[in-house]
Amino acid sequence: MSSKAKKTMASQADIHVLYEKAVQEPESDVEFYNDTYQKIRGRKPLVLREDFCGTALISTEWCKSDPARKAIGVDLDGPTLDWGKQHNLQPAGEDIASRIELIQANVLEVTEPRADITCAMNFSYNIFKTRETLREYFVAARKGLKEDGIFILDMFGGTEAMDEMEEEREIDELDDVDYVWDQDSFNPITNDIVCYIHFNFSDGSEIQRAFTYHWRLWSIPEVRELMLEAGFSNVRVYWEKFVDSDDDDDELEGTGEYYEAMEVENQESWIIYIAAEV
Ligand SMILES: C[S@@+](CC[C@H](N)C(=O)[O-])C[C@H]1O[C@@H](n2cnc3c(N)ncnc32)[C@H](O)[C@@H]1O
Repeated sequence: MSSKAKKTMASQADIHVLYEKAVQEPESDVEFYNDTYQKIRGRKPLVLREDFCGTALISTEWCKSDPARKAIGVDLDGPTLDWGKQHNLQPAGEDIASRIELIQANVLEVTEPRADITCAMNFSYNIFKTRETLREYFVAARKGLKEDGIFILDMFGGTEAMDEMEEEREIDELDDVDYVWDQDSFNPITNDIVCYIHFNFSDGSEIQRAFTYHWRLWSIPEVRELMLEAGFSNVRVYWEKFVDSDDDDDELEGTGEYYEAMEVENQESWIIYIAAEV
C-alpha cells in the first residue's frame, strides 16, 4: 500500500478488542459464578479454571475480584494467549498477573491444577460434535475440579437458532463499529452449524469473517444427559429473566439476571447458563 493511501478503520482495528467489547461481559460472568457457587456450596470459590479462555479476560476479572483468587486459563491458540498476557494480564498489574496461569493445551488433556469452578464460555464446547467427544470433554472438566467443584457453561438456542440469519448491533463503548452475528448455515441432519462474526465500520470498511465457528448446535437435554453420563451429580439450568421492553410493548428484553428453572416457554433466542455439580 502506498504511504499516502488512507488507512481504513478496519485495517487499524484489533479483532480481539472488538470481540471482547462485543460479546464478553466478564463482570456479569464472575458475579454469576460467585453467587451460584456460594448458594450451592455455602463457601466462597477461590480457584477458577477458564476453558477455551482465548484472551483470558474472565480469568483476569476473576483475580481482580478478590486478592485470594487464582485462575487457570486453557486454550490451544498461542498467539491469542500471548495477546491476553499483553493486553489483559500485564495491564492488571503484577499481583493479578502472578495469580493467573495460562496453559496452551487441548482442554481434553488438562486436569491439573484442580479448580473450584471451571467455566466454558461463548459456546466453545460446541466444537465437540459427537456424544463421545463432548462426554470426554465433560469427563476431563470433572477431573479438573475439586470434590466440591462446579462446572459452568453457557448455551444459546431458541426457535431462531436454526435459521440462516444475520443480526447486526452496536457495540457498547465503541461508536464507529457494529458487530454482526452471522448464522450462515445449519444442517438439520447433523445439527452442524457454521457461524461467523463480522465487523462493519462507519467509514464503510469491514472485517468479514473475523471469527469462524464450525459447531454442532447441542440441545439442553443432550448437554444435561452427557454431563450426568460424565459423572456430574446434579445439573441445573439457569434461565434469563425477561421483562416488557420500554421501547415496544410487544417485545421482551433480557435483564441479565438468571433464575434456576425446569420448565419455561421457548423464545426466539435465548442464552442460558448450565451449572453441574461434581
Ligand atoms: C469462541 S472462542 C471463546 C473465547 C472466550 N472463552 C470467550 O468466552 O469469548 C473459542 C476459543 O477456544 C479455543 N479452542 C478451540 N478448541 C480448543 C480445544 N480443544 N482446547 C482448548 N482451546 C480450544 C480457540 O483457540 C478459541 O480461543
